[in-house]
Amino acid sequence: MSKKELTDTFQGAIAPKDIAVRMESVSKTFTRWQRRDNITQKERVSGQEQGPKKQNARENVIEETGAFRKERMFSKDKRKRIFRQEKTTVTALDNVSFQIGRGEFVAYAGPNGAGKSTTMKLLSGMLQPTSGDLSVLGMSPEKERIALMKKLGVLFGNRTELWWDHPVIQSFAWKKVVWDIPDEMYRRNLDMVTELLDMGEIRNTFARELSLGQRMRADLAMMLLHSPELILLDEPTLGLDVVAKRQMIEFLKRINREEGVTILVTSHDMDDLEEMARRILMISDGKLAFDGSFDGLRDITGNLTHFTVTTDGRMPELEGCRLLGGKHGVFEFEVDLSGLSMKTLLGMLSRAEGILDVEIRKAPIEQVIAQLYQAWKKA
Ligand SMILES: Nc1ncnc2c1ncn2[C@@H]1O[C@H](COP(=O)(O)OP(=O)(O)OP(=O)(O)O)[C@@H](O)[C@H]1O
Ligand SMILES: [Mg+2]
Repeated sequence: MSKKELTDTFQGAIAPKDIAVRMESVSKTFTRWQRRDNITQKERVSGQEQGPKKQNARENVIEETGAFRKERMFSKDKRKRIFRQEKTTVTALDNVSFQIGRGEFVAYAGPNGAGKSTTMKLLSGMLQPTSGDLSVLGMSPEKERIALMKKLGVLFGNRTELWWDHPVIQSFAWKKVVWDIPDEMYRRNLDMVTELLDMGEIRNTFARELSLGQRMRADLAMMLLHSPELILLDEPTLGLDVVAKRQMIEFLKRINREEGVTILVTSHDMDDLEEMARRILMISDGKLAFDGSFDGLRDITGNLTHFTVTTDGRMPELEGCRLLGGKHGVFEFEVDLSGLSMKTLLGMLSRAEGILDVEIRKAPIEQVIAQLYQAWKKA
């Protein structure tokens, strides 16, 4: 199987009018300025240069670190090297192409720094691509940003749009005026989010007094007030407890199903993503690594699962499971559940002696990506 086949397994042709998101060969590079410290540790400690170079050009460089105050002798040349800025180029997205149809619920997964947030920012017009072409709801995010924002909702889990020093409802009212949301639409959406996101008690709370889960709900509610056709969610479940997460997931599924809202969502939690979305795009190092169904992904990578077993000290013998490590009676295993059923695994665990606790979870995204690369190598 070629890489091309692996990445194109899911998406058939979508009629142009049904395309919500189209990215074609999109790349994005950033220029980063970094301070380069070329001086060696030995020179740092001694504060002296090697060799008899330009003694008279030396000056005292005084550095204060907390209670310590050190005087060092550095040449001008060396100081220049210490504080010199170096330009590097970071490729956040590298020739990425995909399409999302209207009404789809798509998961966007990848390890830290893979390019997920960059994609979200490009799609919402906050950044411009270095090359390639993209359209969102038939519009160019770069050229038609204001018109697009009327149909788009964007939520970055680590940021808030709420007015910090005002009750939540005041931010909502402000959005209604600024976005010119018709009365009826505003009322309908406000009623919907109040009921489904349990906003009753937090509507009148000051944003700065909200807990993380409450703040996330309020931000999500505010994002929906103008009835967006497409919503981009960058880690909306970040830091939420199990109950808040469940509520958020159920709500998103419902607006996708009942209101036909197209959703693209990122998360580091494969379980959350699989519960929400039917299709997954995986990105790694700025390149699209997989585009398909969760079952399709499992066909390639297996159904890798990790579990931790806590015992009274004895190591459990579990056939078909790989021991990743263990100490003080806590053992970490890996198993491919496409080869060994959950029932068999639970059977083995129930027969093992001295088990106090078991925790089962999906393998981390980094490992799924590693499995994908291995599959390509073998292909
Ligand atoms: N404004 C910027 N300037 C320079 N480099 C940037 C900038 N924004 C992102 N990058 C770099 O681009 C790459 C992709 O970053 P991005 O934020 O898209 O990753 P991500 O997939 O969202 O990661 P995470 O899971 O940690 O949120 C990273 O190497 C990051 O350091
Ligand atoms: Mg990110």
